[in-house]
Amino acid sequence: MPRKMRHVLWVAGLAVGLAATSAQAGEKKELMSGASGQMLAAQCDGCHGPGGASAGPATPNIGGISKDYMLEVMEGFASGEVPSTIMGRIAKGYSKEDVAKLADHYSRLKWVPAKQPFDAKMAKEGAKLHEKYCEKCHEDGGKKAEEDAAILAGQWMPYLQFTMADFLSGRREMTKKMKKKVKKLIKAKGEKGLHAIVHFYASQQ
Ligand code: HEC
Ligand code: HEC
Repeated sequence: MPRKMRHVLWVAGLAVGLAATSAQAGEKKELMSGASGQMLAAQCDGCHGPGGASAGPATPNIGGISKDYMLEVMEGFASGEVPSTIMGRIAKGYSKEDVAKLADHYSRLKWVPAKQPFDAKMAKEGAKLHEKYCEKCHEDGGKKAEEDAAILAGQWMPYLQFTMADFLSGRREMTKKMKKKVKKLIKAKGEKGLHAIVHFYASQQ
């Protein structure tokens, strides 16, 4: 047998072996307490990437987001309160218990900032605007995963842009206090100010 082929077979054999042991471990867990958060998360990997670091710029990173935020947004997707292209349908397919397991699983993972291009000048302006209008709730430059606020630093720029567009159009509701700040920002700097803030989030890699 050519060496290369032997190598391929060996790697394939190893993969099967690993899959078998992790499936056995998983089955044991399932018998005890239903599917674990990690098992459920395998159904999210295709879009959100293994570990919740998504490869596509329209799909948000979710590894490392807070438990509360995940619970809230999944509920919002399922009820239609948070607009979505895909997640509404997906969120409806999970019980409260499963969503709690998923939220627990993802909250333990490390946030992986997206590698993406950004405009340095806009990011600099955005840093100042973030400090003035957003930092109060999105602490540490948008890095902090706390309570019900999402992580913004290192999130994919196209995702942030269409989310902000949903907020501005009223398709997705802002909390009252966030709305007040966003309105103030738009009044002072126009939508350009918001774009600058998004570049600031994208610059944190
Ligand atoms: C077919 C692709 C796809 C799959 C599978 C998928 N997602 Fe999503 N997810 C998206 C997209 C796209 C968005 C942005 C909202 C939208 O348009 O639906 C999103 C948004 C989210 C958000 C909101 C993040 C934020 O910052 O607000 C969470 C949380 C989430 N998904 C969790 C999950 C979980 C948990 C699973 C698995 C049970 C999952 N997703 C499976 C595509 C997917
Ligand atoms: C008074 C607190 C508060 C302020 C100020 C605030 N936000 Fe938020 N923001 C929140 C909370 C809470 C959420 C999550 C809940 C929700 O969906 O409304 C959120 C969600 C978001 C999201 C959605 C994240 C995602 O992954 O889908 C974006 C984007 C965002 N905020 C941007 C901003 C920007 C930009 C500013 C400043 C101009 C700002 N926020 C100011 C509290 C705040």
